This record gives sequence, C-alpha cells and structure tokens, in this order.
Amino acid sequence: MHVLVIQSSPNYDGLTAACANAAIAGIEAAGGTAENVRLTDLDLASCRQCGDGWGGCLSEHICDGIDDDFQALHEAAIAADALAMVTPVYWGDLSESHKCFMDRLRRCEASLGVDSRLAGKPVLLVAAAGGGGGGMMSCLSNMERWAQHVRMQPADLIGIKRITRDHKLEAIRAAGETMVRQSR
Ligand SMILES: Cc1cc2nc3c(=O)[nH]c(=O)nc-3n(C[C@H](O)[C@H](O)[C@H](O)COP(=O)(O)O)c2cc1C
Repeated sequence: MHVLVIQSSPNYDGLTAACANAAIAGIEAAGGTAENVRLTDLDLASCRQCGDGWGGCLSEHICDGIDDDFQALHEAAIAADALAMVTPVYWGDLSESHKCFMDRLRRCEASLGVDSRLAGKPVLLVAAAGGGGGGMMSCLSNMERWAQHVRMQPADLIGIKRITRDHKLEAIRAAGETMVRQSR
C-alpha cells in the first residue's frame, strides 16, 4: 500500500511534523510505502470559484482555473492507495494551506459522486493543536465532513496537543500500521 502523508505546518520539527513522522513509521512497519508531502513548501493557491461557481472541477474533474502544484498533487492522491492528512489546528480549523488543497481536491472528486477517484480509500485524519487544544474537535469534524464529500473512509480521526503528545504519537503510529495491515 502506498500512502501519501500530507502535512501542513511550516515548522520542520514541530508537533505536526512529529505526527507525520509517526504515521510514516507505522505505515512502513506494516510493509507500506509513504511519501511525505509538505504543503507549505508547494505553490498552492485558493480556489478561484471559476465561472458561475464551478469550472473544470465540475465538467472535467480537474482544476484548470489555476496552474500551480495542485495538478501534480491531485494525480498523486488519485494514484495513492490511501492518504494521511496531518494539519496543525489554526483557528479551530485546518491550516490555510491544507484547507486550500482539500477544497480544490473536494471540488474535483466530490463532483464525481460515487465515482470519486478517492472513493473507498482509507484516510487517516490528524489535527495537531496547541497547549489548550481548543478547536481540535471542530478541525477534526471539518476533516470528517470532507472525507464524506469525497467518499473516503476515515481510518481514524486523532486529535493531539502538547500534553497528550507521547501517547497520541503512539496512537498515530499504530493507526498508520493498522491502516496498511487492514488493506491486505
Ligand atoms: C494562526 C494560528 C492559529 C492557531 N489556532 C489554534 C487553535 O485554534 N487551537 C489550538 O489549540 N491551537 C492553535 N494554534 C496553535 C497550533 O495548533 C499549534 O502550535 C500546533 O501544534 C502547531 O503545530 P507545529 O508545531 O507543527 O507548527 C494556532 C497557531 C497558529 C499559528
């Protein structure tokens, strides 16, 4: 199983990066392969709401409104067997870069309904929050709703904050491992 692990903190050694590394360790322990994608290193613009609100995302199921790194990442997501979305919690929501990417991906795939090219694939959803952890649940809830729209299967939804770091990192590693093992 090949898993795209998509993370969206600019910090290379922060909590989000640790969560992504834990997921990768679990995936690889189960014999899967993981590709680490850092959204903040990419050129990804917000959806431009082409036309009357829909553009090529509805008619062709591709984003033809903006030419940036989205197209290659969209193809990689379709080619992968599973995804892991690992976002820091910002304002009780996903990070801006993660929201940007997931919004455009949703338009292209949710518009295919049951034929979404992500349909039935597992997705591990992780929200990495700050000290208090306020807004962790709304962030996870928004990610769950996204998974419903693109018809992916949440392998797990895990919230983590500074004081739960150790046991939640272990849970993320185990979730990555279980996701690969259950695909056999
Ligand atoms: C713009 C911004 C908004 C944030 N909003 C929240 C929030 O709503 N709730 C929360 O618990 N932490 C919030 N945080 C803290 C981050 O979620 C936290 O620092 C997270 O662990 C960042 O991950 P990193 O160490 O990988 O960068 C916010 C941080 C930033 C920069």
